[in-house]
Amino acid sequence: MAIDGPAGAGKSTVAKAVAKRLGYRYMDTGAMYRALAWKVMRRGADPDDENALGRILESTDVDLGTDHTVMLDGADVSGAIRTPEVGQMASRVSGLKVVRQRMADLQRSMGRSGCIVAEGRDMGTVVFPEAEVKVYLDASPETRARRRFDELAGEDSTLTLEQTLADVVRRDRRDKERKVAPLRKADDAVFIDSTALSAAAVVDRILEEVNSKSNENGRTV
Ligand code: DC
Repeated sequence: MAIDGPAGAGKSTVAKAVAKRLGYRYMDTGAMYRALAWKVMRRGADPDDENALGRILESTDVDLGTDHTVMLDGADVSGAIRTPEVGQMASRVSGLKVVRQRMADLQRSMGRSGCIVAEGRDMGTVVFPEAEVKVYLDASPETRARRRFDELAGEDSTLTLEQTLADVVRRDRRDKERKVAPLRKADDAVFIDSTALSAAAVVDRILEEVNSKSNENGRTV
């Protein structure tokens, strides 16, 4: 299953819950871009320098644990990558072809065995175009900013809602306008607007979709 959409649409919460209900694995591909971005920041590398990024990638190992841990070169970076700065840097480095190629290869090898809920920006369009169920999850920018703010405000008391909205809008624009694998709804994806829906309601809507697909294919889930 592929779940795509902009920042703060609720993808992670919903994808984790759907994976749990179906007994599938959950793959947070944004965390993989964040882990690389974190390394680029630590190294002080130029995020627009494709050659430099290529060299960093050669010696980079990103792995996602079953308990949602994110491992970078053997170290647990699960908490460190969840800042707005790392998110912006992830959005920048993810525009480079060399980066997307490497991440897509890793994601396909992790998803090879099937039974996976993959969440990101290009899951249904590029990485897993053959996914059985595709979802494009969106919400108004204000709602998405509010969700991100509520998530992050506990960690950073200097953060404001206005800043978070600006951050979300800037990141979405970059993710939608990049040349390689831009964020867009796959033609065969179900569009869900979560602005006025609870996470549980979105999960139910997605499970309905899974059931109707399974019935089409003569199976029940
Ligand atoms: O989902 P997230 O906020 O953790 O993602 C961080 C950034 O990574 C996002 O702004 C764009 C990039 N990304 C991507 O380009 N492709 C993906 N499949 C997932 C994330």
